[in-house]
Parts: sequence; structure tokens; C-alpha cells
Amino acid sequence: MRNRRWVFAFLLWFVAFWRIEAFKFHRAQKTERISGSAGDVLEDDPVGRLKVFVYELPSKYNKKILQKDPRCLTHMFAAEIFMHRFLLSSPVRTLNPDEADWFYTPVYTTCDLTPNGLPLPFKSPRIMRSAIQLISSNWPYWNATEGANHFFIVPHDFGACFHYLEEKAIERGILPLLQRATLVQTFGQRNHVCLKHGSIIIPPYAPPQKMQAHLISPGTPRSIFVYFRGLFYDVGNDPEGGYYARGARASVWENFKDNPLFDISTEHPTTYYEDMQRAIFCLCPLGWAPWSPRLVEAVVFGCIPVIIADDIVLPFADAIPWEDIGVFVAEKDVPRLDTILTSIPIKEILRKQRLLANPSMKQAMLFPQPAQARDAFHQILNGLARKLPHDRSIYMRSGESILNWTAGPVADLKPW
Ligand SMILES: *[C@@H]1O[C@H](CO)[C@@H](O)[C@H](O)[C@H]1NC(C)=O
Ligand SMILES: *[C@@H]1O[C@H](CO)[C@@H](O)[C@H](O)[C@H]1NC(C)=O
Repeated sequence: MRNRRWVFAFLLWFVAFWRIEAFKFHRAQKTERISGSAGDVLEDDPVGRLKVFVYELPSKYNKKILQKDPRCLTHMFAAEIFMHRFLLSSPVRTLNPDEADWFYTPVYTTCDLTPNGLPLPFKSPRIMRSAIQLISSNWPYWNATEGANHFFIVPHDFGACFHYLEEKAIERGILPLLQRATLVQTFGQRNHVCLKHGSIIIPPYAPPQKMQAHLISPGTPRSIFVYFRGLFYDVGNDPEGGYYARGARASVWENFKDNPLFDISTEHPTTYYEDMQRAIFCLCPLGWAPWSPRLVEAVVFGCIPVIIADDIVLPFADAIPWEDIGVFVAEKDVPRLDTILTSIPIKEILRKQRLLANPSMKQAMLFPQPAQARDAFHQILNGLARKLPHDRSIYMRSGESILNWTAGPVADLKPW
């Protein structure tokens, strides 16, 4: 009993100490740039480094789909729509396809939501296939490389595998027609059939204006040690448990629900964004996909993301120094989360917070309207520019063909 009281006194002291340290730091409001590759790459300006040709498609591939459900504009997969709008007025756009480095097909494959707002990508393969058929018959550029200088935005949970259940997504694999294209997607997990080599991993869409509206005074002390709001179990889709989040979220709850350092719950308060600005660590465990919008929120609100998702590939990992700004905890180590976080030296925490305060880091996570320098749109273009020049070998020799237009599930071959 005495022992326990002592531990509790220590925790109180610990939290108080953090408060003071965090307070001291916020008064100073210093930011730290990362010299060398990472931080500097974030500052790159893609203009002048690549030219993108935007195919003009009938509105049934994009605008009409959006008209049916305007919720697609605020959904976490909205990047497919905003990227289209951005490119139409971007200085990297060229109207002359003969001088283009990259070809972009504006097709909104993810904008098909259930009444509850869950995306069901059942029609996506047919829409995508139909769009590719159209561009390959009306322009010569697809056939010239069979898509190798084309990029597609596929922000769904499992990207171009087009299924919301991982098992099924794996079974389907990436749509065969996209085998040579560059995929721009939120899904990132190493050695996974739904992540093709050379893909560009982007953050999910989180509403910039809304986040902006909830900013609190930067001097506010960070008095919450660990913060998390969200599901621990998904009983509806995973009644037995253990499949959702591979059990990692359940383990967070079971181990730390009574720990005073952990402010965790399934209730989503109206002060959610404010609370993240009052927290030192924000848990970003996997859910059904390795990432969630929490990752973006944590960075924007300067809360150190604690990434619990083995083998995750993070957005713009070639530009954002995730190892420096975040903390990575293996899924099997979740039961030791308290020890892991409390043993990080204060100096290290303060350094991560200083790096997170760098506006470039936040800007790269957002898709603002209108676009701004160094935002996620620009990071996507930077990613595409870094792949140039294309290797000569991407061009097909006459008579050569690699793609198999009849591969994949038979149901995908039905016209859309
Ligand atoms: C591209 O190849 C397809 C399949 O071989 C063919 O049907 C189509 O006409 C070709 N497109 C052009 C513009 O020649
Ligand atoms: C294309 O895929 C179909 C369906 O899987 C298969 O039957 C056919 O043999 C493939 N064609 C070639 C040329 O590989």
C-alpha cells in the first residue's frame, strides 16, 4: 500500500515537472530546422522541375460522382478530389502532352460512401478500368509506356487493391492495369501486396480550416502526458477481437485504462483538437489501416506522435524525419508503453517538440484550399519530380506489350 502511494506521488511529481518543462519551452517558442537532406527537401519548390498533363475526362468520372455525395469533400480520402482541382490551376500543368513528364487521370474511385460515410470501393476497379480504356484509346501516351509515366491518386485504405477488408484486398492485389503506373496513396506498409515499389505515400485528408479554428495559445502548457481518443475494439466488424488493430488498441486499453498518465477513452470530446495541443504524446496506433488522421492531427498540433504500427511506411518519408519527430513502439511492446515513454530523456522530448514546431512539417501534412507553398500537394509533386528523368526503358518497343487487359477478377471486367 505504502509502495503504491509512493508511486502515485512520483507520478504527480512527474506530471508537474512536465508541465514546467513544457511551459518553459513554449514560452521560448523556438523552432529547429533539420539541416541536411530531410528538412531541406520539404522546402523544395516543384515548379520548373516537372510538367504534368491532365487528361480531360467526361464528368461521369469525377464531377458527377462528387455531385452525388458532397461528403467526399470532407472525407479523409478527399485528396483525390483536391489534387485534381490543384493540378488544373497549377503552374506545373502543361496543355501540351508531348512535353509532359507525367500524365494524370482525374478519376474519383473512392467517392462512394455508405450512409454512415464509409467508403465502399466495389465499383472502383471498373471505374478505373473504364478510365484507362478511355485514355488509351483517345491518346497515344498510355500505350507508349503502358502507364509507366502516369500517376493515379488512390487514397483508399488499401490503395489500388480496392477492398476495405485487408484479407480481401490482399487476395485482389493491385489492379493489374496499374502495374506500371505510379500510385499516390495513403496506404503504406512494408512488404505488402498493396504497396508497390515506387509509390508515393501521402497523408490522409484532415480539414485545415477546422483545425486552424481550434488552435489555442501556443503558451498553453502540455499537462496531459499521453492522449488518445478512438476505438479500442471494433465489435461490429471484429466480434472475436484480435483482428482489429492486430490487438494493439485493445492492449493499450487493457494495460493503461487506469494509469493516471494515460488520458485515453472512446469518447470524442468537442475539445479533441484543443486536448491534443495540451498533450505531450499522442498515440497513433494502427486501426484497420496502419495510419489514421491522428497522425496529421498530432503533427499539426505539435503533439509527439507515438506510432504503433509495425512496418508502417509514413507519408513523405523521404522528406519528413519521422524518426526525429515521433516515437516508434513495436506492437508487441504496447504493454510496456508507460515505461518506454517515461524513460525518454527530457532533452529528447524537447527536441522533438522543437522539430514539430517547424511550420514546414505541418504544412506538408495539409491539403489547404487554395494550395500554399510546401503543402502536401507540393510534396506530391516533389515526389514525382524526384523520379525524373524517366528511364528510357519505360517506352514500349513496337509490338511489345506487358499489360494483360483480361487479368483479375471477372467481375472487374464488366463495363462501367
Ligand atoms: C492502344 O492499345 C489498345 C490495345 O492494344 C488499342 O485498342 C488502342 O487502339 C491503342 N490506342 C491507340 C491510341 O492507338
Ligand atoms: C491474361 O489473364 C487471363 C486471366 O487471368 C489469362 O487467362 C490469360 O492467359 C492472360 N494472358 C496472357 C497473355 O498472359
